[in-house]
Amino acid sequence: MDKKDIEILVRRRIQELGLDMAGKKEYIIAANWKMNMSEKETKKFLEEVKGVPLADNIKVMIFPPYPYLHLFKEQLRYEKITYGAQDVAKEEKGAYTGEVSAAMLGDMGCSLTLVGHSERRSYYGDSSEIVAKKAKAALAYQITPVICIGETLEERQQDRYKEVLKTQLDAVYRELGNMLEKCIIAYEPVWAIGTGVIPTMDQIHETHKYIYQILNAYGITDNNIRVLYGGSVNAKNVQEIASVNYVNGFLIGGASLKAESFKSIIGLASEV
Ligand code: PGA
Repeated sequence: MDKKDIEILVRRRIQELGLDMAGKKEYIIAANWKMNMSEKETKKFLEEVKGVPLADNIKVMIFPPYPYLHLFKEQLRYEKITYGAQDVAKEEKGAYTGEVSAAMLGDMGCSLTLVGHSERRSYYGDSSEIVAKKAKAALAYQITPVICIGETLEERQQDRYKEVLKTQLDAVYRELGNMLEKCIIAYEPVWAIGTGVIPTMDQIHETHKYIYQILNAYGITDNNIRVLYGGSVNAKNVQEIASVNYVNGFLIGGASLKAESFKSIIGLASEV
């Protein structure tokens, strides 16, 4: 093996571990508030979180309900924290009562949006094809979609999770092609969301590695896309999950609703 081969191998290993070239793993810590919080609580949260020192390897993202986005726009203007919506219309504009377009999110200063959260998929009929169209609509306005994927308990128990994840990803790849590189993936096993149950570290490792294999097969290299883990993440388990290879961050529901708990998760992740 010559020097070049060794260099390639080392680079590859660094990428596998999700490290930056200085050797520190980077983490995205994302808060999904769902349909929680009031205007007053949002203001208080922002006061408490604004100005929190963030290590270079940490990126913080918050997904509040639509009506509070303007508070983020006003208050987080010069902060390192980015924010976005929990969903976006697949259409650009027009007679779509109740929908919010990517352009409108741009007006609110959003640089991100969730798409395909399991609650959207199961309660509101967002199929993988719809999710793909929503991601495309967001990208057209330079909004980064955080595409959520994940299997149900039944699919996990029947050992069908790989096929489910592949089908979900294939649908977005079909619509987006190489633009999928501009997205973030959040792996959220449905059975871990809001249940307090998390997969074993081996299961998380194996599944994230598998997701990267699918992405690699599309021609996307590990370094060009981030895969987050979501489902019952809290201050107690965040460090253990953070040290799993191929985990590049977290999408956090319940434990992100209190500034104290969210800040302690940020602190704990930066220590890993
Ligand atoms: P949870 O939610 O952290 O409350 O399990 C995660 C999510 O749904 O994104």
